[in-house]
Amino acid sequence: MGDAPRIGIVGVGVISGAYLKTLEPRSDVQVAAIADLDAARAATVAEGIPGARALEVAALLADPDIDLVLNLTIPAAHAEIALAAIANGKHVYGEKPLAVDLAGGRAVSEAAAAAGVRLGSAPDTVLGTGTQTARSVIDEGRIGRPIAATAVMANPGPEPWHPNPDFYFLPGGGPLMDMGPYYISALVHLLGPVTAVVGAASRLRSERVIGSGPRAGERIPVGVDTHVSGILEHASGALSTLTTSFDSVKTSAAPIEIHGESGSLSVPDPNMFSGVVSFCALGSTEWEPIGDRAGYVDAARGIGLLDMLAAPDDAHVRASGRLALHTLEVMTAVLESARTGVRVSLDTTVERPPLVPLGLRFDLREL
Ligand SMILES: NC(=O)c1ccc[n+]([C@@H]2O[C@H](COP(=O)([O-])OP(=O)(O)OC[C@H]3O[C@@H](n4cnc5c(N)ncnc54)[C@H](O)[C@@H]3O)[C@@H](O)[C@H]2O)c1
Repeated sequence: MGDAPRIGIVGVGVISGAYLKTLEPRSDVQVAAIADLDAARAATVAEGIPGARALEVAALLADPDIDLVLNLTIPAAHAEIALAAIANGKHVYGEKPLAVDLAGGRAVSEAAAAAGVRLGSAPDTVLGTGTQTARSVIDEGRIGRPIAATAVMANPGPEPWHPNPDFYFLPGGGPLMDMGPYYISALVHLLGPVTAVVGAASRLRSERVIGSGPRAGERIPVGVDTHVSGILEHASGALSTLTTSFDSVKTSAAPIEIHGESGSLSVPDPNMFSGVVSFCALGSTEWEPIGDRAGYVDAARGIGLLDMLAAPDDAHVRASGRLALHTLEVMTAVLESARTGVRVSLDTTVERPPLVPLGLRFDLREL
């Protein structure tokens, strides 16, 4: 990958700060350019980063001094920005979902493969100690053959805290497309790929009210279902039941539980990098906490991008475009099944990404 790959960030809204916190202090990558539809916002962010330039979006995507585009735009722009970056020969790592529909995801994936560039996608939270420790417990055989999983994300929606929550309620948004990538990626890390799904969905309100920022009080339309449930059939035979909801006040359900023939596992929030994994053996009634045994320690958003750059080859990229495309197909298939009432078989599949050894560290310049 060469020395200190130069990263150009497109889209510097709410989540960009988390990435900059990870990437800026590292000397083995360089945040070299910033672009946003809001040029003033790009200029302000670039000013705070030594050596970074603020550019027009098209100029950044074509700049020969940029090796990798970090795409932190809203979902509706993900495919368009990724395709333009790939057309200019750049590696791409982007926020989730890969695209707002399967056709867009496939186009990005195929373009990256044809251009021979790397494609990676959030979420990378599942590379932290939470999900990775659970994965290592399953791989050790401690729960026996995995039979089933439950995964629950239920809250009242993002509009109370996000100053511009429109995208959450447009096609490509909704609780499944927004939060599903965390849960489905975790389930693939834990149980392997999905072969078919069944879905059902509902919608509580036709409008939402923005709760914070300069637009507080403004009503925005809801164009997507806001409570979505799916049953995911894994290639292994295990069944996952997934609920994602922006129509729920509160939940005390475990984010993810895995049930095997000889034990159950409680897995922490896949939207977080760490958390306590608990195990209960058949015959016991108590959860037993398990110490960290795999995963990036003290990781934060951006580790998936670094992991992608450090991978010896495309097959070893953990937060890969392949996983993102499979995740996208699971989500669009659940929504299709909810619409049609018919079980949907999937076309895409993916290997379980390699386990992250506990505390893995690297310097890209030494690879
Ligand atoms: N906000 C969160 O807590 C959070 C957490 C994890 C992931 N994400 C994901 O990160 C992405 C961005 O979310 P956000 O909350 O930062 O959104 P945001 O609306 O705060 O920021 C998006 C930024 O992208 C810019 N933008 C939009 N379209 C563009 C285009 N075509 N070209 C260039 N710039 C463009 C906007 O001007 C804005 O500055 C989404 O995919 C979201 O799912 C957000």
